[in-house]
Amino acid sequence: MKGIKILGTGHYLPERIATNDDFSKIVDTSDEWITSRTGIKERRIASGEPVWYMGVNAARDALLDAQLDASEIDLILHTSVTPDFYTPSMACMVQRDIGAKNAIGIDVNCACSGFVYALDIAAKYLQDDQYKNILIVSSEKLSKITDYSDRGTCVLFGDAAAACIITKGDGMFFSYLGAQVEDADKLFARTITDDNPFCDDNDQQKYDKFSDSNGQYIYMDGREVYKFAIKAIPKAIKGACDKAGVDVNSIDMIVPHQANVRIMETAAANLGLSIDKFYMNLELYGNTSSASVPLCLDEFIKEGGLKEGMRICVVGFGGGLTYGAAIFDL
Ligand code: ACO
Repeated sequence: MKGIKILGTGHYLPERIATNDDFSKIVDTSDEWITSRTGIKERRIASGEPVWYMGVNAARDALLDAQLDASEIDLILHTSVTPDFYTPSMACMVQRDIGAKNAIGIDVNCACSGFVYALDIAAKYLQDDQYKNILIVSSEKLSKITDYSDRGTCVLFGDAAAACIITKGDGMFFSYLGAQVEDADKLFARTITDDNPFCDDNDQQKYDKFSDSNGQYIYMDGREVYKFAIKAIPKAIKGACDKAGVDVNSIDMIVPHQANVRIMETAAANLGLSIDKFYMNLELYGNTSSASVPLCLDEFIKEGGLKEGMRICVVGFGGGLTYGAAIFDL
């Protein structure tokens, strides 16, 4: 029995909404440009709440949905590109605040593919009888690393957290993960640089292979990431289906990373699938990195769309450049 079962899902969304018109007041852009190029209309921006706080609230929501006590969680996997601390981990912070006294926690950094990678790790941990209930928390505060003077990136990102609790299931679970690491410099955000009396900037520059310097803000070569994404999505979905020995047409719903509606339309066409099979909510939340897939899952389940026996495929792509898909029956 290698399958997974979703016991509960949850989310946390900051209250503040930033519309496309709000962005046209701070950079040279328009609602028409953003909507036609990306499909995004608005996104949430945190008002000071930390990443761990957003994650804790999403986790509590998922525990309530699963009707589980935090003490019944055995493993917490936390995904984020914007952790609050180098240490403790975000998983430890969530574990502390929800009171998951019997759990261990691990942080996973695979950028926008984070949830798919975490789901794959969780499915493998479930093969060990010590781990019955696994909580995945994806909490992202992209506003921390967004340059609000760069119109090419700032309109894309939003803040959100989402969580999912899984246990062993009767169906199948297959994944296909990969990374096009030679293009790692097409999408990145730095941590702080060395600051000690023995090292100067020239020392550090010797090692820096990423030519574009933009502080700690997200740098993205949009066109290159676009070209990568439209190939990576079909590759990952087909890869997972081949491993499972099933046809892509057998998938009932694809839950993709929410980056750009045009990317999804092109990927759907490349797979010969209808765009209706791709779940989308980026119009309201923008690109929330690893939180986007579990946010969609939470919404889809709570609006009653997800039914027992359905075949679901989650697919992500992002910094690394990582990509991956997981296919499972509910
Ligand atoms: N408003 C108005 N004009 C803009 C804006 C904006 N917000 N942003 C860029 N432009 C301009 C550019 O300056 C450029 O003008 P120029 O021709 O005078 O130089 C023109 O629009 C075209 O720019 P491109 O970057 O070529 O625009 P493109 O059609 O490629 O769309 C976009 C840009 C939406 C970023 C697209 O490349 C894209 O979606 N790429 C993939 C990004 C992605 O998916 N990232 C997420 C994956 S990883 C992660 O989630 C962190």
